[in-house]
Amino acid sequence: MRPKPDTVVALYPGSFDPITNGHLDLIQRGSALFDRLIVAILRNDEKRPLFGLEERIEMLREVARDLPNVEIGSFGGLLVDYAAESGASVILRGIRAVSDYEYELQMALMNRRLRPEIETVFLMAGEAHSFISSRLVKEVIRLGGSIGGLVPPSIEVRLKRRLLEETGSDETGEA
Ligand code: PNS
Repeated sequence: MRPKPDTVVALYPGSFDPITNGHLDLIQRGSALFDRLIVAILRNDEKRPLFGLEERIEMLREVARDLPNVEIGSFGGLLVDYAAESGASVILRGIRAVSDYEYELQMALMNRRLRPEIETVFLMAGEAHSFISSRLVKEVIRLGGSIGGLVPPSIEVRLKRRLLEETGSDETGEA
């Protein structure tokens, strides 16, 4: 059996393109459970993110600024290697619905095979957040729908600004 570390560090990985209220809920709950929580943004340009890495780091810092034990990091390569480098013994992931389960199980088992000493811990998304995803938020705002309450207000402002920059016009249909 492995002894419990004095300081339990958890890593919460994702693309966060952009952060949603579902992610924020998990960050808040994770910060209350672990001594330190590192929110780890995957550096993956193949996914052609809407927001560049620096901006995603900035957005996460902004929304997590009141949580002193939360840090923001980024990684390329294997998640478990970044966890080991950061001294994290836990990977934190959220599950929204049964449809998330298969993908999450696959990742958790692969990560355990790669580094058995790192445990994946799942938190169920709050019911108010169980349908929110970054992909759908981007789709809804692009098509002129309201995303109020789905992302933090400062992120909504950035999303609208980014769409304006992309299209040169206000696709949201709002003044
Ligand atoms: O935002 P997402 O899509 O939910 O995040 C997925 C993420 C970043 C957790 C996943 O793609 C990941 O861990 N990528 C790193 C590559 C890796 O370690 N792969 C092998 C184990 S599954």
